[in-house]
Amino acid sequence: MVELECRSAHEVAEAIRTLAVRGAPAIGVAAAYGFALACMRGEDLDEAAATLVAARPTAVNLAWAVGQVRRFDGDPAERARAIHREEVERCRRMAEHAAELLAPGTRALTHCNTGGLATGGVGTALGAVHEAFSRGLVEHVFVDETRPLLQGSRLTAWELERSGVPHTVIADSAAGALMARNEVDAVLTGADRIAANGDTANKIGTYALAVLAAHHGIPFFVVAPSSTIDLATLDGDAIPIEERDPSEVTPRFPARNPAFDVTPAALVGAIVTEAGVHRAPYGESLRASAVSAEATG
Ligand code: MRU
Repeated sequence: MVELECRSAHEVAEAIRTLAVRGAPAIGVAAAYGFALACMRGEDLDEAAATLVAARPTAVNLAWAVGQVRRFDGDPAERARAIHREEVERCRRMAEHAAELLAPGTRALTHCNTGGLATGGVGTALGAVHEAFSRGLVEHVFVDETRPLLQGSRLTAWELERSGVPHTVIADSAAGALMARNEVDAVLTGADRIAANGDTANKIGTYALAVLAAHHGIPFFVVAPSSTIDLATLDGDAIPIEERDPSEVTPRFPARNPAFDVTPAALVGAIVTEAGVHRAPYGESLRASAVSAEATG
């Protein structure tokens, strides 16, 4: 574990761009601190905001958090700290709501990393897994390695190892076979942007998991804070998808590297925010949840 110190909005933007800090809520918290740094250093705030927001396009928490600090009529550092505290509290409440969805003996499958490293709190989907495990509801966790940057086999496995939750890392392409063999009871993922209708963007590979889960009749749950709901984006087609450097996939051959995909709301069994468990049709209940998040600003 290495601690990286950032002393300017530019350094924070670079940390976000290179995934030194990643995961939608953590990106938001880091961006809030980055903008507060710019305020405290007397930097050009338009430039600082633009630099931060341009770091990565899909996670809506980035622009949301910069906007929260920018509009705050008080100490920007205090607003950034408050956003951090709020994300920690949102994680706690999401974990409690989502754990209620899992039956005793659950063999869960999760994709990417949605734990403390991605949120600053106990996590979103992984926070729910931890909470459910502490209630004796989770028997085992399958961890998609999550190519190409391996957030699953590098970060999620590390967090589960530290908390003593039984887990097994799998190749992303193995998920379907395990579902077919009736070894998976529920799929839990996070989100980078949830559109007003419930269409959800998350790490590449999530959509395929949702299709597989639907085919095998396995519940597919999204766990994400209200700061990840984007009411200004009406549906999944309007969500900007980051295309990262193809060399992350292979430095040798021509490649494509979309970092996220969109799961249509119809394939999502429930969206869990700090406000509770939302079921389709998602429109109204997500709107209420997002409005309450905005109101805390
Ligand atoms: O490219 P990353 O590692 O930032 O992608 C992260 C994800 O897709 C997470 O699932 C999402 O941000 C939720 S993190 C609680």
